[in-house]
Amino acid sequence: MATKKILLLGTGFVAEPCVEYLCRRPENKLTIAARRLPVAQELASGYKNTTAISLDVNDEVALETAIAEHDIVISLIPYIHHALVIKAAIKSKTNVVTTSYVSPAMMAYDEAAKAAGVVVMNEIGVDPGVDHLYAIKTISEVHAEGGKILSFLSYCGGLPAPESSNNPLGYKFSWSSRGVLLALKNNAKFYENGEIVEYSGNDLMNSAKPIPIYPAFAFVGYPNRDSSPYKERYNIPEAHTILRGTLRYAGFPEFVKTLVDIGFLDDTPQDFLATGAPEIAWNEVLAKRLGAANSSESELTQLIKEKSSVKGEDDIERIIKGMKWLGMFSKTPAERRGNYLDTLCATLESKMMYAKGERDMVMLQHKFEVELKDGTRQTRTSTILEYGNPEGASAMARLVGMPCGVATQLVLDGVIKTPGILAPMTMELNEPLIKGIEAEGVVCHEEIL
Ligand SMILES: *[C@@H]1O[C@H](CO)[C@@H](O)[C@H](O)[C@H]1NC(C)=O
Ligand SMILES: *[C@@H]1O[C@H](CO)[C@@H](O)[C@H](O)[C@H]1NC(C)=O
Repeated sequence: MATKKILLLGTGFVAEPCVEYLCRRPENKLTIAARRLPVAQELASGYKNTTAISLDVNDEVALETAIAEHDIVISLIPYIHHALVIKAAIKSKTNVVTTSYVSPAMMAYDEAAKAAGVVVMNEIGVDPGVDHLYAIKTISEVHAEGGKILSFLSYCGGLPAPESSNNPLGYKFSWSSRGVLLALKNNAKFYENGEIVEYSGNDLMNSAKPIPIYPAFAFVGYPNRDSSPYKERYNIPEAHTILRGTLRYAGFPEFVKTLVDIGFLDDTPQDFLATGAPEIAWNEVLAKRLGAANSSESELTQLIKEKSSVKGEDDIERIIKGMKWLGMFSKTPAERRGNYLDTLCATLESKMMYAKGERDMVMLQHKFEVELKDGTRQTRTSTILEYGNPEGASAMARLVGMPCGVATQLVLDGVIKTPGILAPMTMELNEPLIKGIEAEGVVCHEEIL
């Protein structure tokens, strides 16, 4: 078989399951690119027929040159770079795969990609990705039977496994906590009973409510950004409720809500938190943020109780204990990172990382309220629960990297061949993708209740 040349941009934690999948085929030659060569070399060293290169994706000429030498480019770098990657790939007629949402900047290349015959496959990790595959599958089945989707609720979360959820947030960070925290201030929009419902970022955590999936999990969920385009994207104009949301463990929203209320998600530069500023204890940072008369624990606690919109006595006690656990009342020096948000992130990252032997999990559930052709109502669910391997890939890395590898192979094999900016929104695309990920042992349990 002819050699296939694959360029991988990015060596983040989701890259390895993708590399592992693609390296199984003897004709695949993988080039792993990172800004810093040793990082690329480290990933490449574990696999045959791989080469490591140093590449600065901000150097447009270098990016174009590298892409032109390959049959396909996988972009696992931050999404802001994808449009430039696509532009370069269209020039050299190289196909593209990303796991990111199609942004307007990427969509702007749709005509050019079609004209050049270039396939740009996106949204093929998890949330977005695997979730789309099984949403479209049930929607297509119901439509084919002459039925309607009255309501579509979908919740997904990357979380520590229950035994590893041993901290006040019930959450752990496998990479930067900044993005996770800022996402908690996103505005949200969805359809509920035919009406558009909107939440502003400051209220998002107030919208959280219990999401029963399995009795052993205390899940809560809140909406994830704008679900309203899914009426069109999923072709369910008949649906009166459409919501895609995020899962966390109970207690998380109130804790975060309090951090928002007291102003710790603020990234305005503060002189006293500048990296060169004099050392400052955590209780002094907290006292400044609260405008406290002094940094005594009783004074700080009192002000947190006043400022937090969480009013339940047990809840607020638990939150204060959690902040204590983080060391926010202590004389321990804070790691100064310029502003309140990043200073908090430094502490979260040091205290809430996965320890050796701990594992994560990914939980995904779609719930469809269906009306069949004869008027019968039923509920259908599609559920995926995957645990990470403490000795190997996390569940999140595997559920992002592996489907990306499957999609890349399907493009290389000519199975996915429609030119343009694509996302897994049709069964023509999704059927081989589902087959590919099921062959890797990811199972979606579909039930009719
Ligand atoms: C590496 O590439 C060579 C040449 O194409 C091929 O014969 C060999 O099987 C590949 N090795 C692996 C482990 O895929
Ligand atoms: C801290 O300030 C509060 C409010 O002004 C006051 O009641 C308290 O005695 C002070 N505590 C200390 C240790 O100075």
